[in-house]
Amino acid sequence: MTKYEELLKTLPESPKTWLITGCAGFIGSNLLEHLLKLDQTVVGLDNFSTGKQQNLDEVQTLVSKEQWARFSFVEGDIRDLETCQKVCEGVDYVLHQAALGSVPRSIADPLTSHASNVTGQLNMLVAARDQQVKRIVYAASSSTYGDYPGLPKVEDTIGKPLSPYAVTKYVNELYADVFARCYGTQAVGLRYFNVFGPRQDPDGAYAAVIPKWIAAMLRGETIYINGTGETSRDFCYVKNVVQANLLAATSEHEEAANQVYNVAVNARTDLLQLFGLLKFGLVVNRPDLRDIKPSHRDFRAGDVLHSQADVSKAGELLGYAPTHTIEQGLAEALEWYVGSLEMAGTRDAEILEPWVAGKL
Ligand SMILES: NC(=O)c1ccc[n+]([C@@H]2O[C@H](COP(=O)([O-])OP(=O)(O)OC[C@H]3O[C@@H](n4cnc5c(N)ncnc54)[C@H](O)[C@@H]3O)[C@@H](O)[C@H]2O)c1
Repeated sequence: MTKYEELLKTLPESPKTWLITGCAGFIGSNLLEHLLKLDQTVVGLDNFSTGKQQNLDEVQTLVSKEQWARFSFVEGDIRDLETCQKVCEGVDYVLHQAALGSVPRSIADPLTSHASNVTGQLNMLVAARDQQVKRIVYAASSSTYGDYPGLPKVEDTIGKPLSPYAVTKYVNELYADVFARCYGTQAVGLRYFNVFGPRQDPDGAYAAVIPKWIAAMLRGETIYINGTGETSRDFCYVKNVVQANLLAATSEHEEAANQVYNVAVNARTDLLQLFGLLKFGLVVNRPDLRDIKPSHRDFRAGDVLHSQADVSKAGELLGYAPTHTIEQGLAEALEWYVGSLEMAGTRDAEILEPWVAGKL
């Protein structure tokens, strides 16, 4: 039995109280779904800057009435210390996900990214310390590797940040480390590498590549590849991220706390391969996609060319063992996007009909 399988058995027998910041967002709402299904008590905080009520509504449909009753939601902002103090009261573990993601967003508006990502996290650390939370797990990022070219990335060796976003995520690690030294806070940073899965927003200027391309393919829109297509990433299905969070919060390994860990699968997929995987996944029910080709445009400022995670540290200290490869994750994610875009009742309904018929 893996550490995670053990945890899934023991958690419902001794339920805890969890705070998820950013719980109306993509990763936050997936954490919420899993924790409620494990009969945990959850407090959620979000200011709906990029998160959606719709994500919370969907989680409600996926859990029982009793489980949903264990969830309380506070609409509020992590930039406000008083709010952070209030939501940390009586909490065992904090899963701090709230932040403004996206490299280009931070290049366009560094001040707003800084306020949510740095001041917001500092407030959360202060609140977690004051309210004597057992441990705070926070979303760090693979962007911290910056211009360091070596692959796979190992936690101890980083380069210079390539964007304001990367700076904010590195500062998160520095503050967490200093809080451990100065106040004895237990904080764990998880450097996520290109997470994907259900409820990740496909729309807007700052959408991530996987949801953006799936929606564009289903809608018959042009797929743009920034650069030649050789750019590669360690795409990580969100269920692996949920696993890492739950293990990081509860691990009793004496060296587990006050560390940062890579969270991905230690594999690399380039953008041309990704295009092929998505097309292959959709073409069964959408034969019209068989001949689609991507269009190329300029490489994006602030992006790194290649990324791949060594995940052995999380394996050794947390017992992390990813359950989903990119292919397994895409199979679930594609099904969700097809269903959700159809539910949106847009012109996609007609386009999606053959897919849905194929499923039946
Ligand atoms: N998705 C990825 O591939 C990825 C990769 C590396 C790191 N991360 C980090 O993971 C975390 C979650 O990312 P996500 O992909 O779920 O993004 P998301 O945008 O879907 O979720 C972020 C949530 O935080 C909320 N939020 C933002 N600023 C806030 C504030 N000031 N106060 C309260 N709530 C606020 C948003 O409304 C949203 O619901 C972020 O910290 C992000 O930087 C994500």
